[in-house]
Parts: sequence; C-alpha cells; structure tokens
Amino acid sequence: MHTEKPAVIDVTVGKAKPEEMPSVVQLYKKRGVETSGVGPANTHVARTESGRVVGALSVVNCGGVPVIKNIAVDMELEGRGVGRQLFEYVIEELKKQGHHHIIIAHQNRNQGFYSKFGFKELNPSEMVLELRG
Ligand SMILES: CC(C)(COP(=O)(O)OP(=O)(O)OC[C@H]1O[C@@H](n2cnc3c(N)ncnc32)[C@H](O)[C@@H]1OP(=O)(O)O)[C@@H](O)C(=O)NCCC(=O)NCCS
Repeated sequence: MHTEKPAVIDVTVGKAKPEEMPSVVQLYKKRGVETSGVGPANTHVARTESGRVVGALSVVNCGGVPVIKNIAVDMELEGRGVGRQLFEYVIEELKKQGHHHIIIAHQNRNQGFYSKFGFKELNPSEMVLELRG
C-alpha cells in the first residue's frame, strides 16, 4: 500500500523575540525538554505564517563549542518538516559564525533524526557534527 507523507509546512526561522519566550518555554515543557539556560539570545524559533511559534532550538556555548541541548516541535505538527527547517537554519548560522563543530546532547532520544544531518556518535550521550566550508 502506498502511504502519502504529510505535506511539509513552510515556516520562517529566526532569532527568538523576547515576547516569544513564554511560548518557547511552554513548547519545551509540553515536550519534556529542559528549559534551564534558555533565553532569547540563544534561541531560534520556527513560526507559521500567522506568527505562531511551532518549533524552538537553543544553543549553549561550552568552551567555545556550540551545544544544542533543547529542541522541540509542536506535537500537532510533528513529521511535517519543521524540525528539519529549524535545524538546517541553525547549522548554517553556526557555520557562518565560523564554528567547526556542533555538539548535540541527545538524552538517548532522536539519534536517527540527528544522523540525518550528519551528526555522528561522540559518546553515549552526545553526537557531533563537523562543519566544513
Ligand atoms: C525530534 C523533533 C524535533 C523532530 O522534529 P519534526 O519536525 O517532527 O521532524 P521533521 O518532520 O523535520 O523530520 C525530518 C526528518 O527526520 C525524520 N525524523 C523525525 N524524528 C525522528 C526521530 N525521532 N528518529 C528518526 N528520524 C526522525 C523524519 O522522518 C524526516 O525524515 P525525511 O526528511 O527523510 O522524511 C520532534 O519530534 C520533537 O520535538 N520531539 C520531542 C522533543 C525532543 O525529543 N527533543 C529532543 C530532546 S532535547
């Protein structure tokens, strides 16, 4: 049987505005994602056309290396490409900033998702992406 994939939802990704932070925290909490150290300076969000925050990703700096500890997509829109658009945007941004690596703390979840972007196992709790060019 041929099953259609749900259509990709177009979102715009950008730096979180301070007024969007309550939605980001709510999204993280709903999805069981840690919220400590999360703020507008280190968070990117995915917004629908109407401006609703449907995805968020926060990066902390660990000894000069960017570490992704928090990522969540609205449960209702899971599997519609929001995570991919958010991830690809942030990877490009970090590349432009001149970083050579990105680490992701995966809490034993979603390694399959991260490996789609080229992340490789670094140790039992982290994966690493080497950035080139
Ligand atoms: C993990 C998460 C961010 C993925 O976001 P999403 O918008 O559903 O993902 P996308 O639709 O963009 O998927 C992109 C690709 O990854 C795949 N994928 C998505 N989640 C996956 C998973 N858990 N394991 C393996 N592959 C996965 C999709 O099938 C898709 O593949 P394709 O491009 O070949 O079709 C989202 O499921 C989520 O918020 N999960 C709960 C929170 C969480 O676990 N956060 C991480 C801990 S901090």
